[in-house]
Amino acid sequence: MLEKIESLNSEAAIDSERINSADSLEEFRLKYLSRNGILNSLFEDFKNVEKESKGKVGKSLNELKLSLQKIYDNKKSALGQNESKAADTADLSLPGRTFNKGTRHLINQALEEISGIFEKIGFKVYEGFEIEDEYHNFDALNTPEHHPSRDMQDTFYIDSTGKDRKYLLRTQTSSAQIRIMEKIKPPVRIISPGRVFRNEDVSSRSLAFFHQVEGLYVDKNVTFSELKGTLNYFAGEYFGSSLKTRLRPSFFPFTEPSAEMDVECFLCKSKGCRVCKYTGWLEILGCGMVDPNVFEMVGYDPEVYSGYAFGMGIERTLMIKHGVPDIRLFYENDIRFLKQF
Ligand code: DAH
Repeated sequence: MLEKIESLNSEAAIDSERINSADSLEEFRLKYLSRNGILNSLFEDFKNVEKESKGKVGKSLNELKLSLQKIYDNKKSALGQNESKAADTADLSLPGRTFNKGTRHLINQALEEISGIFEKIGFKVYEGFEIEDEYHNFDALNTPEHHPSRDMQDTFYIDSTGKDRKYLLRTQTSSAQIRIMEKIKPPVRIISPGRVFRNEDVSSRSLAFFHQVEGLYVDKNVTFSELKGTLNYFAGEYFGSSLKTRLRPSFFPFTEPSAEMDVECFLCKSKGCRVCKYTGWLEILGCGMVDPNVFEMVGYDPEVYSGYAFGMGIERTLMIKHGVPDIRLFYENDIRFLKQF
């Protein structure tokens, strides 16, 4: 038994030289140290060793055990160090890791695109306030307290006890017209994108808020035909220049005359479809010549200045353009929806 232990010592020393990988280390462990390995079988045999030799054999058996364990531990830690060294060095030949970038929200894309179209022809972006007072949202826009058009826009009022004015969430970006005219003298040429709020029932077609883009141009001798020209330019850029547009008479308290603009249905190319309700036209915005009363409210002389204004909703147009069936999809932040744009 002593001889056997002796020869195993030298065999293990030779085997240990060959350990250069995790696999060969494991081989070593299986051969010597595992449950069915040589060491355990020696301990089994040890039971049969005669009494008088037990001391000597036991000692060398224990020494063998320690030295095998030591070989294993040393090799293991040496291999581990090499491994971590390798991990520290970057492999420059590996392909780069791609990560998901977010995209701009469809609505922001539209607000930017529309603003950009007007910026190209000299309009400046001016953002008004989402929390407004009644004066800027209604009164100064020629919509006094009992004016019936207030009923068209169900308003969220804010508790304004103790305040000098009644505050509300703006129902239209038109309030930005007043804000800018109070600030600067003509010429004024602004485009104002933003969110507006109305107390409406939530459904697939309406929410309590949506987005609008407002435009205003005031100078000497601004005419209705300039309004028409500008809006045709916009429709050409945004919807495609092959589509026809038309203006229909309408009513807004802050413009006189007022009109609504339709663009040929870009889905059916005016043949008539469900979306355009078989009329061949889609309504895209309201517009008109700024009412002289509005100029008086901001201290512009209506005898000297004239101007046009227009305002359009964003969600509805986007729904038509991209076939989005439910307005709530814009705000649910479902990545599968957002990723498509
Ligand atoms: N503020 C109107 C609305 O929310 C839209 C509008 C119509 C804006 C005519 C204008 C305009 O500037 O001239 O329904």
